[in-house]
Amino acid sequence: MTQDILTICYLIASITFILGLKMLSNPASARKGNSVAALGMSIAILGTIFLYKNDETGEYLNNYAWIFGGLIIGGIIGTLAAKKVQMTAMPEMVSLFNGMGGACAALISLVEFNHLAAETTVVISHSKVLIIVVGLIIGSVSFAGSMIAWGKLNGRVKDLSFKGQNILNLLVLALALVLGAYLVMQPHHSLLLYVILLLSLLYGIFFVLPIGGADMPVVISLLNSFTGVAAACGGFLYNNKVMLTGGILVGAAGTLLTILMCKAMNRSLKNVLIGSFGGNNTAVSSGATSQGHYKEISLSDTAMVMSYASKVMIVPGYGLAVAQAQHSCHELEKILTEKGVEVRYAIHPVAGRMPGHMNVLLAEADVNYEKLLEMEQANEEFSTTDVVLILGANDVVNPAAKTDPASPIYGMPILDVELAKTVIVNKRSMKPGYAGIENELFFKPKTSMLFGDAKKVLQDLCAEIKNT
Ligand code: TAP
Repeated sequence: MTQDILTICYLIASITFILGLKMLSNPASARKGNSVAALGMSIAILGTIFLYKNDETGEYLNNYAWIFGGLIIGGIIGTLAAKKVQMTAMPEMVSLFNGMGGACAALISLVEFNHLAAETTVVISHSKVLIIVVGLIIGSVSFAGSMIAWGKLNGRVKDLSFKGQNILNLLVLALALVLGAYLVMQPHHSLLLYVILLLSLLYGIFFVLPIGGADMPVVISLLNSFTGVAAACGGFLYNNKVMLTGGILVGAAGTLLTILMCKAMNRSLKNVLIGSFGGNNTAVSSGATSQGHYKEISLSDTAMVMSYASKVMIVPGYGLAVAQAQHSCHELEKILTEKGVEVRYAIHPVAGRMPGHMNVLLAEADVNYEKLLEMEQANEEFSTTDVVLILGANDVVNPAAKTDPASPIYGMPILDVELAKTVIVNKRSMKPGYAGIENELFFKPKTSMLFGDAKKVLQDLCAEIKNT
C-alpha cells in the first residue's frame, strides 16, 4: 500500500516537472512554474523519506538525523545564496548549483559501487557497474567543469590554453572511457574506480579552462545537460522513476538550450568548445573608422528627437547589463510614456551573455514584460518606428550578419533596426562587441552615436527630457 502511494507521489512529481518546465517558457507564468515544480520535488523527496521501503530488507529509511540535517543545512545555504545573489551573478550561481548536482551523481556512483563490491556473495551485475561508471564519469566532468566555469565567471580563474591541449583532453577522456569499460568487464578491480574519478575530474577542468569567459553560458548549459544525464543514471540504479524523469528532463532541456544558443549565435557547438571567437572580446578591429565617418549626436538633440517621436524602440545589449543601467532605462521609458510616446523593447535572443539576459535584467527593473518584443515581432515593427535607441548592443544589430558572407556572424539573425527612421547608438567608444568585428550600422547616414557609459547617459537623458 505505502509503495503504491509512493508511486503516485512520483507520478505527481513527474507531472509537475513537465508542467513547471512548460510554464517557465513564458515570463508571465515562469514564477508559478518554478513553484509548481518545486512543490512536486518536495512531494517526491518527502514521499521517499517516509514511504520508501527497501525490497530486500523490507526496512523503511530511519537515518532521519542525517537526512534532515543535510536538508536543513543545504536549504539554509541555498535560500541565503538565492536571496543574496545579484541578477548579473545568476550564471555563476547556476554553475555552482549545477556543479553540486554533478558531485551528487558522482558520489552516488562511488557509494553504490562500494555497496556492490561489499556484496561478495552475489555475482556483480555488469549492467549496474556500467551505469555506475557512466554516472561517475559524467557527474565528475560536470562537477569539475562547473566549478571552473563558476571561477571564470567571477574572475577567479583565468583562461588557460596551450598547444595540443585539445589532443591531451581527448586522451584523458579516452583513457577514462577505456578504464571504465575494463572495470565493467572486471568489476573486482575496485581501485580503478578512483583512477576513473581522477581522470574525469581532470577532463572536466581541462575541457572548460581554455574556453573564453563569454562562452561560459553555452558551456554551463551543456554541463547542465550532463548533470541531468548523470542524475538519470542514479534513477536507473535505484529504479527510481522520478529521478529518472527529472534527470532526463534536465538532460533534454540543457541539450536543447545549448543547441538554441549556438543557433542564435550562428556557431557550431564545436566552434564554441574549441573557440574561434568569443574568448577575447577586447580585440579592436582594424581602425575604428575604416568604414568611413560616423556622426555624433548630443544629449540635448537626443532628448529632443525622442520627446517628439511617436514610437520609440529600445534595443538593450550587453553594455546595458555591464553598466547596470536597467533602472535608468525603465525611468526613461516612463518619462517618454508620460509624454505620450509609445515605447517598446526589442529583445534579441542572445543579447548579453546568458539566455534571457535582457529579460531578467529588465524584469529586475520592473519593466512590464508586455512591452518586450521578441526579435521576430520587433522586426515587423521597426518600419513604423521613429527612433531606435540602442543601449550597449552591437553584434545583435550588425547588418554584416546578413550582408557579409565572410563575417564570423554571417547567418546570425539580427534586429533590423535600419528599417526605422532614426537610429541612435549608445556605447562608450567605437570598439567592437563580443564577435570582435566592426559594425557598418554605426556609419550609416541615419545612425548617430551617443557616446558614454549607458547608465550615466540614461540618467542625463532623463533629466534633459524632463526639461524639454
Ligand atoms: P556585444 O556585441 O557584445 O556589444 C556590447 C557593446 O556594449 C560593446 O560594443 C561595448 O562597446 C558596449 N558597452 C560595454 N560597456 C558599456 C557601457 N558601460 N555602457 C555602454 N556601452 C557599453 O553585445 P550584444 O549586442 O548584446 O551581443 C551579444 C553577443 O554576445 C553576441 O555576439 C552573442 O552571440 C554573444 N553571446 C551571447 C550569449 C547569450 S546566451 N546571450 C552567450 C555567449 C555569447 P564599448 O566598449 O565601445 O562601450
